[in-house]
Amino acid sequence: MTVSVLFVCLGNICRSPTAEGVFRAKVNAHEQLTSANIKIDSAGTAAWHRGKSPDERSQAAAKKRGYDLSPLRARQVEPADFARFDYIFAMDLDNLALLREQAARTEFSGHLGLFLQLIDGVEREVPDPYYGAADGFDRVLNLVEAASDALIDIIVHQHSNNQNCNK
Ligand code: 4NP
Repeated sequence: MTVSVLFVCLGNICRSPTAEGVFRAKVNAHEQLTSANIKIDSAGTAAWHRGKSPDERSQAAAKKRGYDLSPLRARQVEPADFARFDYIFAMDLDNLALLREQAARTEFSGHLGLFLQLIDGVEREVPDPYYGAADGFDRVLNLVEAASDALIDIIVHQHSNNQNCNK
């Protein structure tokens, strides 16, 4: 099974690299997904931080929970992403609207939606921590961990269905 997942926020230095790092760690730790080929990436709708490492505050908060975001580098969403990815998850509604406009100009046939739609919490959006209080980075992690667990469940179900089909 091959699945590809792209996480998108505004700058690609806080929320979406956190989602990329958390989701990748959870996939790597999941014994039922060892044979699955899962491509994971993140990008921003803005180009401001292209080439930069994740925000130091995001890296520090993630590191405390065992996630290493240091290898990641920011990039902007590009039209080819809509051909490359099965799932594109936006961190908030503004970015989802921008992605929908871009997707409409392509042949995108995958799933495009809010990442937090995968969980039942009260929040629909991952709040932007960039200009906010220090605890914003932990809030991002809490939300992203919960949604990543939900996405793992979806992929594990697909994976086991695919394996049954191949029998
Ligand atoms: P992100 O956070 O979209 O979660 O990466 C932001 C990063 C930078 C800016 C805004 C949000 N900025 O205005 O530079």
